[in-house]
Amino acid sequence: MSDSEIEERINPNILITGTPGTGKTTLSRLVAESTDLAYINVGDLVKERGLHQGFDQEFQSYILDDDKVVDELEDALSKGGNIVDFHSCEVFPERWFDLVLVLRTDNTLLYDRLENRGYSQKKITENIDCEIFQVILEEAKESYPLEIVVELPSNSWQDMESNASRIREWVKNWKERKNGR
Ligand SMILES: Nc1ncnc2c1ncn2[C@@H]1O[C@H](COP(=O)(O)OP(=O)(O)OP(=O)(O)O)[C@@H](O)[C@H]1O
Ligand SMILES: [Mg+2]
Repeated sequence: MSDSEIEERINPNILITGTPGTGKTTLSRLVAESTDLAYINVGDLVKERGLHQGFDQEFQSYILDDDKVVDELEDALSKGGNIVDFHSCEVFPERWFDLVLVLRTDNTLLYDRLENRGYSQKKITENIDCEIFQVILEEAKESYPLEIVVELPSNSWQDMESNASRIREWVKNWKERKNGR
């Protein structure tokens, strides 16, 4: 896609990413309810539409088919106006997003959330390590321009509320800047 096509987007695309359990789905839904952004849960789409190359028993997760994922989302993302929820971000083209948010949660809180979900010890450890080593934050910084990557704390409901209002404000400003109103 050329730069001129990107400029035609009149609504922004936001990616909400982070380690499993950091609150991506809760926050994305909250924002989608109070803006005109459409909510896309990529993990659900991968399962429902078979955008994978099978299930990895060892890691207990689907092996993503990157091309299928990008093809599936291309039309919606080219148009703009989406809030995309996924625990990884390197698969998506850089040109899709105007803002990339990486949710962060303290280890002990994240541990409890994952345990409450009934995750195996192996899966909990894997995800806690992912959070400690800032894997998703580094991935985001490598995949997108640094100025659009923002880390947001997601430890409490107060954080959730303030993140939602920050995003709503950002969307409003983006539209005003873009559309001159
Ligand atoms: N900021 C927060 N404060 C307190 N609890 C939270 C917060 N964010 C999420 N939670 C709780 O943590 C759990 C996980 O949240 P959620 O399902 O939104 O995470 P997720 O990032 O979408 O996870 P996954 O990647 O596995 O889909 C839920 O029970 C949710 O209520
Ligand atoms: Mg989720």
